[in-house]
Amino acid sequence: MARATAAGRRSWAAARCIVALYCAAALTTAPAAATYAAAGGPPSVPAGPLDIVLLGAKGDGKTDATEAVQKAWKNACAATGVQKIIIPPGNFLIGALALEGPCTSSIIIRLDGNLLGTGDLNAYKKNWIEVMHVDNFAINGHGTIDGQGPLVWQKNQCNKNYNCKILPNSLVLDYVTNASIRGVTLKNAKFFHMNLFNCKNVVVDKVNITAPGDSPNTDGIHMGDSDNITITNTNIGVGDDCISIGPGTQRVRVHGSRCGPGHGISVGSLGRYKDEKNVEDIQVTNCTIKGATNGLRIKSYEDSKSVLKASRFVYDQIVMDNVSFPIVIDQKYCPNNICNKNGQSTVTIQDIVFKNIVGTSATPEAVTLNCPNNLPCQGVQLVNVNLKYVGARNNKTMAVCHNAVGKSTNVAKELACL
Ligand SMILES: *[C@@H]1O[C@H](CO)[C@@H](O)[C@H](O)[C@H]1NC(C)=O
Ligand SMILES: *[C@@H]1O[C@H](CO)[C@@H](O)[C@H](O)[C@H]1NC(C)=O
Ligand SMILES: *[C@@H]1O[C@H](CO)[C@@H](O)[C@H](O)[C@H]1NC(C)=O
Ligand SMILES: *[C@@H]1O[C@H](CO)[C@@H](O)[C@H](O)[C@H]1NC(C)=O
Ligand SMILES: *[C@@H]1O[C@H](CO)[C@@H](O)[C@H](O)[C@H]1NC(C)=O
Ligand SMILES: *[C@@H]1O[C@H](CO)[C@@H](O)[C@H](O)[C@H]1NC(C)=O
Repeated sequence: MARATAAGRRSWAAARCIVALYCAAALTTAPAAATYAAAGGPPSVPAGPLDIVLLGAKGDGKTDATEAVQKAWKNACAATGVQKIIIPPGNFLIGALALEGPCTSSIIIRLDGNLLGTGDLNAYKKNWIEVMHVDNFAINGHGTIDGQGPLVWQKNQCNKNYNCKILPNSLVLDYVTNASIRGVTLKNAKFFHMNLFNCKNVVVDKVNITAPGDSPNTDGIHMGDSDNITITNTNIGVGDDCISIGPGTQRVRVHGSRCGPGHGISVGSLGRYKDEKNVEDIQVTNCTIKGATNGLRIKSYEDSKSVLKASRFVYDQIVMDNVSFPIVIDQKYCPNNICNKNGQSTVTIQDIVFKNIVGTSATPEAVTLNCPNNLPCQGVQLVNVNLKYVGARNNKTMAVCHNAVGKSTNVAKELACL
């Protein structure tokens, strides 16, 4: 479903991947190991400990450790230089955390323990772990951020009520610049696992994100109104979009990552709200999508409410393994029939390259390009696309295309609809 929740803003989202001509560029712009949290000048001695156990946290999985983490943050934030908060091995039960800046230091959270999100929904205002207005920040280690979603997923009513109450997202970064999240695992979020809103220069590297394929709205990483977001070497298997890129986002690099189960790598949904900004310069390269309902998807509402453009996307070197709809542009998106079906689209989609996309499709419809009559998609390219239908029915792979303008190069006849 992919709906951003930060700062009161909501937006549905969708997904995609890229490779070839642009591959060299992607490799140079996606550093494998950029490390943030290095600014801040010489370190001062914090006013109190930064190890949560020294602040009273018990790793017994039962004692509420929220206060200890909150105190460690306060001590680190008021110091200078690089300050490291320690969460050692152990199971720490945690309620809502407000990790707010601005801070005078650069903070690293070394996470080797497991954070368990309490199942008591009264403990949350909105999200679970919220990092806000912070520059130069990192989370690393081998620990786990476990939302304990199974305790509350049955309270999710979003499949019945479109304006449903949203359960807490696990890790939320709002107005965060120069950050990295590395090595840790996020699992069983109550809602989204990670939500980035108004962030800049964020690296997600070697992170695993897992939830059952049928868990409700457990998107892996959603982002909106953000710039320069890099996701590398990350495995995501969830119940909704693996990655979803919302309005107002630019310069996204997804490289060497895996998706599935899930709803794929999505851009959108675009056009649900007024005043949405463009989505530009997205590159998805060297990724595998396995057993997902969609592979690379761009979606916009049939009756879009803002004028915006989605452009300059490259999906290159993507392997599809039994993906139901591997390549999708859907500009007639309208969940639960909430749209005015006569709506004229105001979302322009242009310069979208699908290159070196190979593997298998679980339905015959390997390529779907469904663009509006009034605003055909421009500059769409299919280059070296080879997808085979592997389902049980007696059928063969096909492309279903409307109002898409562009070029097919080295694509099997039945998929070369441009
Ligand atoms: C983010 O990092 C860049 C490059 O290291 C640096 O120039 C910039 O000042 C940093 N931004 C903030 C807000 O710290
Ligand atoms: C984008 O972020 C990367 C780290 O992910 C950083 O190295 C690079 O300098 C940033 N680019 C710009 C233009 O800020
Ligand atoms: C992350 O997932 C991959 C693939 O499922 C697995 O091989 C790896 O061990 C996982 N890493 C961690 C830290 O769990
Ligand atoms: C592509 O990603 C895989 C992991 O999925 C990695 O093993 C391989 O080295 C990557 N190739 C390139 C060219 O980055
Ligand atoms: C392929 O995906 C379909 C639909 O999701 C599923 O029913 C089928 O079992 C999958 N096949 C394999 C070989 O995984
Ligand atoms: C083949 O698949 C397409 C798309 O799913 C469907 O419309 C069509 O009826 C199928 N044909 C046969 C013979 O099953």
